[in-house]
Amino acid sequence: MCPPPIVIMETNKIYNMECVEGMKQIIPDDSINVVITSPPYNVGIDYDSWNDKMEWNDYLEFAKNWLSEVYRCLKKDGRIALNIPYEINVMKRGGRIFLVAEYWKIMQEIGFKFAGIVDLQEIQPQRVKLTAWGSWLKASAPYIYNPKECVIIAYKEEWKKQDVGNSYFTDSDKHKEEFKELVYGMWKYRAETRGLTKANFSYDIPLKALKILSFQEDVVLDPFMGSGTTAEACIRLNRQYIGFEISKSYCNTMKCRTEQERLSADTFTQNSTSFGSDKPNSFNKDLTATQQVASPKCPSDTSLNPDIKLNRGICSQRLK
Ligand SMILES: C[S@@+](CC[C@H](N)C(=O)[O-])C[C@H]1O[C@@H](n2cnc3c(N)ncnc32)[C@H](O)[C@@H]1O
Repeated sequence: MCPPPIVIMETNKIYNMECVEGMKQIIPDDSINVVITSPPYNVGIDYDSWNDKMEWNDYLEFAKNWLSEVYRCLKKDGRIALNIPYEINVMKRGGRIFLVAEYWKIMQEIGFKFAGIVDLQEIQPQRVKLTAWGSWLKASAPYIYNPKECVIIAYKEEWKKQDVGNSYFTDSDKHKEEFKELVYGMWKYRAETRGLTKANFSYDIPLKALKILSFQEDVVLDPFMGSGTTAEACIRLNRQYIGFEISKSYCNTMKCRTEQERLSADTFTQNSTSFGSDKPNSFNKDLTATQQVASPKCPSDTSLNPDIKLNRGICSQRLK
């Protein structure tokens, strides 16, 4: 009898595919060290290629499907950092929802084990002006709303990693302080102001998660790559990445970041056809996160022409 075929997964690639299908087709069992992701929240964001207004039960089914695939792909000591809001209000499609509880119920059923929850604290928050307060100046029906987000940290079977590589942290005083900050479940982050897609997260989130959860050369999966923030953090910290994004124009935005020599060792793949740049990586590791995010001139989501395809348009002139 023939031995089972050896599946070799290529890393440092982002696939323009639906993620559940993509994970099934491309990622072998027990192959991923860390998943860092922020899924669509089903709050009606006008994404380029995804219905963010599903019936609530369909959304839960979708969450179960992609989280089950993630679980299959993770190594035994693999981890996930899942960025979601504490709560959402989907109005007629289900009212107020304690999103963390819903996700954790699904994750627990699949088999994930809990390793912590991080409260995300925006530096200079921009969303504190609430206008919905329910019964004004009366206790009859006040509307108590928390706009904050968090990161759920969980793992597959074993929390202690067996196969460890080089850590981000050295013995320096600066790193000792940073380590203490990251194991405390409150991370400060700078708001993402570039608007590269409808809902890109702050670069600080994957950067902090990678520092505290992964080692150099680890393979990191983001099933919802959006504008490629997780990939960018991986390059900066010398981790391998693999990811999926359903929108062609968002993939174009990622490509644009590459063209600006921030992800220049990157290769993008559409439906398994590779294209990309083979320029040496000139990402400046000495810059701070703020400096890195301040420089790009990629088109923002509002200025992106939804008709731009991967082989033409603003960022694609140099595609092979
Ligand atoms: C919250 S955003 C993630 C943003 C990303 N973290 C970033 O910084 O740009 C969710 C992304 O998932 C994509 N998406 C939604 N459903 C998808 C699916 N089934 N498969 C792959 N991508 C999907 C959306 O197009 C959107 O870009």
